[in-house]
Amino acid sequence: PIKIRQPAANQLLEHAKKIEHEDRESATTNSGNPISYKDATLTVGKKGTTLFQDWVLIDELAHFSRERIPERVVHAKGAGAFGYFEVTHDITQYTAAKVFAHVGKKTPIAVRFSQVAGEMGYPDTVRDIRGFAVKFYTEDGIWDLVGNNTPLFFVRDCALFPSFIHILKRNPVTHLRPDYDMFWDFISLRPESTHQTLVFFSDRGIPSSYRHMHGYGADTFGFVNEFGQFFYCKFHYLTDQGIGTLGSARATEIAGQDPDFLIRDLYNAIATGNYPTWSFYIQIMTPEQAEKHPWDPFDVTKVWLHADFPLIPVGKLVLNRNPKNYFAEVEQMAFDPAHLIPGIEPSPDRMLQGRLFNYGDTARYRLGANNLQLPVNSPFKLHNFSRDGFATLDSQGGAPNYHPNSFGGPDNDKRALALSPLLPVVGNAGRYDNGGEDWDNFGQARLLYHRVLKEDEKERLVDNIVNWLKNAADFLQERAIRNFANVDEEFARKIRERIQAQVKPVALAEL
Ligand code: HEM
Repeated sequence: PIKIRQPAANQLLEHAKKIEHEDRESATTNSGNPISYKDATLTVGKKGTTLFQDWVLIDELAHFSRERIPERVVHAKGAGAFGYFEVTHDITQYTAAKVFAHVGKKTPIAVRFSQVAGEMGYPDTVRDIRGFAVKFYTEDGIWDLVGNNTPLFFVRDCALFPSFIHILKRNPVTHLRPDYDMFWDFISLRPESTHQTLVFFSDRGIPSSYRHMHGYGADTFGFVNEFGQFFYCKFHYLTDQGIGTLGSARATEIAGQDPDFLIRDLYNAIATGNYPTWSFYIQIMTPEQAEKHPWDPFDVTKVWLHADFPLIPVGKLVLNRNPKNYFAEVEQMAFDPAHLIPGIEPSPDRMLQGRLFNYGDTARYRLGANNLQLPVNSPFKLHNFSRDGFATLDSQGGAPNYHPNSFGGPDNDKRALALSPLLPVVGNAGRYDNGGEDWDNFGQARLLYHRVLKEDEKERLVDNIVNWLKNAADFLQERAIRNFANVDEEFARKIRERIQAQVKPVALAEL
């Protein structure tokens, strides 16, 4: 029989082939000193103790015990790849960002796809939101568009984000996940989560491949054009491969057979020249339209309806290179929504505002104060006033490390200044809870249920919800079903009936 191996399985064979005509290199310590004999430690006699002067051993053990760094607090498991973004349509009327300067312009990109809730070794095919973060290496430095595979989020205030993540993660006492009581308690107490909950339990909750899912910036951003005009915008990158999803049963099977299913799929596709692409679109809202918008345009639990704010084509994303070293290029990749370039601005979106702080902070914890000197994070020559700290790589050519200065140090950027919008801000400072009824928590969930989902999709949605909700305490089931009834009475009734039809689990003690 012919043995068929995929490219990912051949990585070592490929390496051996590449160097087959070269002389074999001498092994070295981390300081480059040749190692005389790697197969045995340095001992006193055949059966004697190891000598402290076995530097080869100590050097390697010391590095070994430092091989792991904290995993990302969310989105811990993922796959990365590299490629480019190409402009296909002119949008300079909306933004002066150089990345969109002219049709045909290409900008290198890095992309990281991820699971949200599971740890580094968690199976790829469990129900979850997927991350789809894009790093653009532009002339104006890094632009990080840190999106997901849905245009929504569960809550609309950053104050609730850590709690929301906690309910997806392990119960701190039992160390088990999912903890259905934690999940349904929070979800049913914050009804603004209903829209995204429907998406989570829909077919889209388990993509069959990272190549077969869309990406969305989700949060609302700002654009400034060359004339200083300001617009609000949302980003969409739609898969050219078509949407692909896995049914719950098949996904569970794959989770056992190949927990790295999605990483393997991406690697093999790119290694065989089957480069995935996405068409990049924006939606634009003027500040005047934002004033009159029936919903808060900065509410990330809602979309901007395409009928009102059509998708405007911009360009395409192409992934055509696998990482050369996963840890260096993917694990150490750090995204930050605060990495914006002139022409692209934040908006008052409360989630985005929190994100502007959180990512840089966690990168400093995970990778250190100089994480932005790692080549994958910033291959640029820097001109700033920060120096020193762990693993400093850059001396900035002896330029002064203070501002202002009289020694030709870097100075303010006139173009960036001209493109900085003067934003009017008025209002009384206060803690305004944005989860109440006046925030229309169900309207768009209703649109999704009634106008978007087909009958068979609705059936699977009910089953997927039941599969989780049946495990929650009775009073939580009731509260969640009451929320679902606000989407559609019939939908809620089906959930209730199918839960009632389930055989109640019997506690071991009762057997
Ligand atoms: C990762 C915080 C909302 C997409 C992360 C990380 C943190 C975080 C701390 C880990 C980063 C790292 O260790 O490198 C937050 C906060 C949010 C929020 C505070 C809201 C207040 C969102 C939303 C999206 C999103 C709305 C999508 C639209 C991602 C993605 C990653 C990520 C894709 C993984 C980035 C990577 O691949 O390295 N988030 N997040 N997050 N977040 Fe968020």
